[in-house]
Amino acid sequence: TVRSSFVVVANRLPVDEVTTDEGRQWRRSPGGLVTALHPVLAEHKGTWVGWAGGTGEEAPEPFDLEGIHIHPVPLTANDLERYYEGMSNATIWPLYHDAVETPVFKRRWRESYRQVNARFAEAAAEVAAEGATVWIQDYQLQLVPAMLRERRPDLKIGFFLHIPFPPIELFMQMPFRAEILRGLLGADLIGFQQRLAAQNFVRLARHLLGLRYEGQVIDVDGRPVKAGAFPISIDVAEMERMAADPAVQARAKQIRAELGDPRMVILGVDRLDYTKGIELRLKAFRELLSDGKLSVPEAVMVQVATPSRERVEHYQTLRVKVEREVGRINGEFGRVGVPAVHYLHQSYSRTELAALYCAADVMMVTPLRDGMNLVAKEYVAARADTGGALVLSEFAGAATELRQSFLCNPHDPDGVKEALLRAVHVEHPEARRRMRLMQRHLRTHDVGHWARSFLNELGVPDVEAA
Ligand code: UDP
Ligand code: G6P
Repeated sequence: TVRSSFVVVANRLPVDEVTTDEGRQWRRSPGGLVTALHPVLAEHKGTWVGWAGGTGEEAPEPFDLEGIHIHPVPLTANDLERYYEGMSNATIWPLYHDAVETPVFKRRWRESYRQVNARFAEAAAEVAAEGATVWIQDYQLQLVPAMLRERRPDLKIGFFLHIPFPPIELFMQMPFRAEILRGLLGADLIGFQQRLAAQNFVRLARHLLGLRYEGQVIDVDGRPVKAGAFPISIDVAEMERMAADPAVQARAKQIRAELGDPRMVILGVDRLDYTKGIELRLKAFRELLSDGKLSVPEAVMVQVATPSRERVEHYQTLRVKVEREVGRINGEFGRVGVPAVHYLHQSYSRTELAALYCAADVMMVTPLRDGMNLVAKEYVAARADTGGALVLSEFAGAATELRQSFLCNPHDPDGVKEALLRAVHVEHPEARRRMRLMQRHLRTHDVGHWARSFLNELGVPDVEAA
C-alpha cells in the first residue's frame, strides 16, 4: 500500500467508470466536490479514498490517475440503498437543507451509515503515513473524524461540510444527533461554507453536549476543536481559459444559432435536485411569458437538469413535476420548431458547459438552499469581458460573495420574476461593471485559496510540503 502524507477522504472518488469500445475506462466525474479538490490533489500527489461508483463486495484495486493515488472503498447494493440513498440523501440532505423536503428517518439506515463510515475510516488509517494530514469531506462521512482519531491519534484531521449546517432546532430532529456531533468533533478543524453555519455548530456543541467554547474553539475533553468558515470556490483560471478557447467560443455561437439566434438566452444548469429551485424558475419564466413581459422566440430558456440520485423518491417526484412544467410551457408558448424551454436531462462535459455559459445572456441560479453553488461562480468566471447577468438566490452560499448579481428571494415568485426582468433589461455597460467586480473577487478567492486557507488553519502552513 502507498502511504501518503496527504489524504482526502470523500464519498466519491474523482472518477467515473465508463465502458467504451476500448473496454473499461476511468473518467473524471461532475459535481462541486470533485471539481474543487482535483487541482489541489494533483499538485500534491496525495491519496484519495472514496467509492468508485459501482456495487459489489470487490472494489477495484488502487491505481494512479493524473498523479493522484486512487484508493477505492467498496459499497454493496445494500450500502447503496441504506447508507447513500437512505441516510445520506433522504435523511441528512433534506434536513441540512432547511427540510425543504421532509427528511425520512429509518433505523436500519443508521446502522449502515455507521458501518460504511467505519470502512472509510479503516481505509484512511491504512493509507495515511505517520503524522499525515487527512481531510474528510462532506455529510456522507460525518462519523469518520472520530472513528479515524480512535485508530490513529497521530494524524491531523480536517473535515469540511460542503452543504449548509442547519440551525439547532432542525439538527435536533436527527435521531442519532449526539453521535453525529461527536463524530464531527473527532476532527481538529471543521470547515463550513458560511460563518453562520460555524456559529450554529459551536452553539450546538454546548447545547447538546454541554461543551465549552471560546470564540470558534470548542474544548472537547481538553482537546481544542476549531470551527470556521471557508467558502469553497472554483478553478477560476481554468474556467477563464476554457471560455477564451476559440473552439468553445465557436461552440457558443453554434449553440445560439441552433436555438434560432434569439435575442435573449436564459440558462439554468443544475443537478435535478429539489433544493435547486428549478420548478420555481420555470414558473417565473412561464408567468413572464403569460404576462407578455417576455415572448418566444425572442427569449428562450435552456435548462440542463443533470440526472441525480434517481432511486430516491423525492428525486423521482421532482422529475415528474419539472417535466410537467416544461411540457406545460412548451405546449402553451412554443411553436413548431421553436420550443420555449430546451430541457436537457443529461450530464454535460465542462467544455460544453463553458460554451453554454458563454452563450447565455442571463444565468438563473435560484436554489431554495445551497451550501455554495459553484455553477454561479463558473458563469461569472466564464464571462470575460462580455457582460451577461446572473440572477442569484439569497439562499445560495455564493450570494455572500457575488453581491453584484441580481439577488432574489426564491420563496417569493414576484421577486424572482422581477430579478429576471432586471437581468434581461440591464444595460450592457452596467452588466459589464457588475461582472468585473465579481470576477475581481473570484480571482483572489479561487479553489486554491480555499484549500490553502483551510490547510493553513489546520496547521499545514506550506501546502507544497504536504
Ligand atoms: N456539472 C457538470 N456537468 C453537468 C452539470 C454540472 O460538470 O452536467 C458541474 C458544474 O460545472 C459544477 C458542479 O457540477 O462544477 C455542480 O456544483 P454546484 O456547487 O453548482 O452544485 P452541486 O451539484 O454540487 O449541488
Ligand atoms: C453535492 C454534495 C457532494 C456530492 C455531489 C453530487 O455537491 O455536496 O458531496 O458528491 O452533490 O451528488 P452525488 O450524490 O451524485 O455524489
